[in-house]
Amino acid sequence: MNDTRPIGVFDSGIGGLSVLKELVSLMPKENYIFVADQLNVPYGEKTKKELQKITLAICNFFVSQNTKLIVIACNTATCYALDYLRSKINIPIVGTVPAIKPAAQKSKSGVMGVLSTPATSKSLYLKNLIKLHASNIKVVNIGCFNLENTVEKGDLNSPKVKKLLNKYIRPIKKSGADVIVLGCTHYPFLKNQIQNITGISTIDSGKAIAEHTKKTLQRMSASNKSGGEIHFYTTGKARFFSKVASLLLKKTISAQKLILKI
Ligand code: DGL
Repeated sequence: MNDTRPIGVFDSGIGGLSVLKELVSLMPKENYIFVADQLNVPYGEKTKKELQKITLAICNFFVSQNTKLIVIACNTATCYALDYLRSKINIPIVGTVPAIKPAAQKSKSGVMGVLSTPATSKSLYLKNLIKLHASNIKVVNIGCFNLENTVEKGDLNSPKVKKLLNKYIRPIKKSGADVIVLGCTHYPFLKNQIQNITGISTIDSGKAIAEHTKKTLQRMSASNKSGGEIHFYTTGKARFFSKVASLLLKKTISAQKLILKI
């Protein structure tokens, strides 16, 4: 059976495109609706209550669009709202969390760095992930203010970005870490810069999320082999989103404005 209903994918902004890219690469024949909540970016400086309220409104939009599954392409929203959203929304939800487990398996020095938003870095969710998968590893956990904002603007290489990266990466470099977890979906767009500065390899969750989504759809008997459409929405400025998204994905993207019912 072919289930042509779309998959809903969302983030606070442009970062979710790093997950969407992996989803499309693994499942090109699925239809997608992508929502960038740029009116409310950065999620990493919001409270749990705010995040739950906003992300519920996005999920309700997906329900109104008859989506078969939702991917939260955002670590911060997953850490603070995944359980809440699952209790409110009656379709499967796949979350994104920092790749602590594969990083712990990969590390030979026994030290890893984690870069994420301020909210994710201090979350109980991350603390528990570390306890569960990296109890024998030293974890240098850095919450990064403003890094997602530069990616939002399509700024990946300016001196300002390099200065910010150097500041956040310095303690990781000093620690002897041999792997850096990119715990925010905006950061894979800075992967080359991070690797150039540190010489340390990075790891993110994009591919694993895509594989998990594929398996979930197979279990639901809800895969699609005849689609391939992607509709982009932003709660911010559609022209600006389209410009930056086209730059990052290296193809022409045209987004529509979405007004959320919060
Ligand atoms: N991209 C998001 C994440 O993975 C959040 C960035 C932000 O809005 O602070 O956490």
